[in-house]
Amino acid sequence: MPTHGSRGVAVLAGLGGWLPPRVVDNDELSQRLDTSDEWIRTRTGIRRRHVVTADVSTVDMAVEAGGRALRSAGSQDVDALVLATATPDQVCPASAPQVASRLGLGGIAAFDVNAVCSGFVYALATAAGLIAAGAAQRVLLVGADAFTTLLNPDDRSTVPIFGDGAGAVVLRAGEQDELGAIGPFDLHSDGDLADLLIVPAGGAKQKKSANPDDHYFTMQGPAVFRHATARMAESSRTVMERAGWTVGDVDRFVGHQANIRILQATAKQLGLPADSLVVNIERTGNTSAASIPLAMVDGVKDGTLQAGDRVLVSAFGAGLTWGATALRWPAVTPG
Ligand code: COA
Repeated sequence: MPTHGSRGVAVLAGLGGWLPPRVVDNDELSQRLDTSDEWIRTRTGIRRRHVVTADVSTVDMAVEAGGRALRSAGSQDVDALVLATATPDQVCPASAPQVASRLGLGGIAAFDVNAVCSGFVYALATAAGLIAAGAAQRVLLVGADAFTTLLNPDDRSTVPIFGDGAGAVVLRAGEQDELGAIGPFDLHSDGDLADLLIVPAGGAKQKKSANPDDHYFTMQGPAVFRHATARMAESSRTVMERAGWTVGDVDRFVGHQANIRILQATAKQLGLPADSLVVNIERTGNTSAASIPLAMVDGVKDGTLQAGDRVLVSAFGAGLTWGATALRWPAVTPG
């Protein structure tokens, strides 16, 4: 990685997203699982989700979203690529170098960050750190997950919730007082609660399990719900305090799209009005590391996110991991 002399604050300069073409709506799921459109809609806010097919991988989605973010930024010029993902194409190596090569960025620094559904916020902090250290001037950050590949197709407690996709941003070195300047940050984890959301087998500790269920993602839904709400609210409060904002200063809340009821409960705990929420979960489901940039793309397109808005960003995921950050929304057109 070249070492650049100048340091700066990370400023959002490009935005893009991509969803795989195959759409699965709640009615289709109801035909093969003991569930209903009504149950899924009222318990989660989800109506449909996009899912990968055999010809679409995490790298493919990341390339599509990354290319759009570069177009949105108006330049191919980046010197690092950070890929937030929990579903790399291979267990080893990381997928980011393949994304960089496919985008014609070969040679730049490229690595994965795995904080599962908090991955985008963690990777934002990582990318901002590269810029602050003077190690990069412009960073492409992609959040991409093919999370449905981890699910037991017969498990009604997980299948309705997740979808696949990729979202990306370009960050450039800039100044603290510019629109789009990212930070402060607040990041946390609690590995004691790893079992709440886990794929038990397939990793280095247990390559293969005699129990096929161990190779699928399992989730303790109600406990996760409580932690997600409390942690996102807590972290958001810390970031507001560090930014010198009061609740009344916040125009928009872009939270990880896990469940509309989690987003509403978090807003309520924070004292934010429900209409401050940027929400697209209805058409995407939970896309893990892709969810926040995809919500940003839709928020810009439907006019919910406007240049100058004070935006709180918060995520929660397996690990456990959670965190938050803030920015004043820049004038950016998704690519
Ligand atoms: N269709 C119909 N019924 C279902 C169902 C489905 N897809 N999934 C579960 N149920 C049933 C349960 O078996 C249970 O039945 P019972 O009362 O007879 O035992 C009932 O619905 C209520 O289940 P419960 O798990 O208490 O529902 P809930 O209101 O907590 O909603 C989740 C379940 C999973 C939607 C909710 O807990 C949630 O969103 N949790 C967070 C998950 C998450 O965000 N994970 C990713 C974090 S990054």
